[in-house]
Amino acid sequence: MIRILLVGALIAPVLVNAEPASQIAWTAQALNQVKNGNSAKGKELAESCKSCHGDQGQGMKEETRDGETLPAIPALAGQVATYTYKQLRDYSNGSRSHDSMTSIAKGLSEQDAADLAVWFSTLKQQEIKSNGQHFARADKLVEEGDGKRILPPCFVCHGGKGQGEKMDIPALAGQQGDYFSRTLQDYKNGSRHNDIYSRMRLIAQQLSDDEIKELAQYYQQLN
Ligand code: HEC
Ligand code: HEC
Repeated sequence: MIRILLVGALIAPVLVNAEPASQIAWTAQALNQVKNGNSAKGKELAESCKSCHGDQGQGMKEETRDGETLPAIPALAGQVATYTYKQLRDYSNGSRSHDSMTSIAKGLSEQDAADLAVWFSTLKQQEIKSNGQHFARADKLVEEGDGKRILPPCFVCHGGKGQGEKMDIPALAGQQGDYFSRTLQDYKNGSRHNDIYSRMRLIAQQLSDDEIKELAQYYQQLN
């Protein structure tokens, strides 16, 4: 007991001084703002997102055109509304950064972010046909994790069908695989650091590059 208290006392000042991963606090006010988001208004605002995130919010896979690689763009359709809201606020206040998304999100008010988040949550998740391939290693990580590495199974947070959970836990089913791999690599190398309590960074750091690729394929085909 004394040891636990001592460790706590040593760690506490570090936690107090550390920059928070995100400025989002799930107050009743923030939750209500998303809950009462105006989907019709979100639909109008979402016109400007289509060129990148697709007509149905399905995202885009990585493509090579004229020798130039266009990076993958995430699907937003069917995403948990509070997660989408948090990401838009995080880009806007600098907790997460990306050339295009930072400037786009800075142009949106909190209300716009809530309206857009609700609209995208009403769209149907894209279904990418399974090619029948079985991903044994990913299956195991999702359902059992790995006790040797202190890796919790993905399903305890992201749900048995990759459907996400309340507040900040995203749906993963049907997500663009190339984006999924890239963002896990970003958590792994710390360039994405807006996950509260470092939940995803701690996990991604323990995954090999091959495991990340397989998990991306597994979730892309899940529906
Ligand atoms: C110029 C192309 C472009 C446009 C236009 C665009 N986005 Fe994005 N968006 C991206 C890219 C690329 C990413 C991935 C960025 C990253 O890796 O952080 C992204 C990421 C996101 C994410 C994070 C998704 C996740 O799963 O974490 C959200 C939410 C989002 N965009 C919402 C929007 C909304 C809402 C609009 C319209 C108001 C919009 N975007 C317009 C390119 C675009
Ligand atoms: C302890 C709970 C927890 C566990 C276990 C967990 N995650 Fe997450 N995951 C989160 C949270 C919370 C976020 C969103 C963090 C943020 O705000 O950026 C997230 C985000 C993600 C994202 C980014 C999605 C996007 O649209 O950008 C991916 C990919 C992901 N997790 C994959 C996994 C995989 C694969 C596993 C299992 C190896 C896993 N997660 C296990 C909590 C968890």
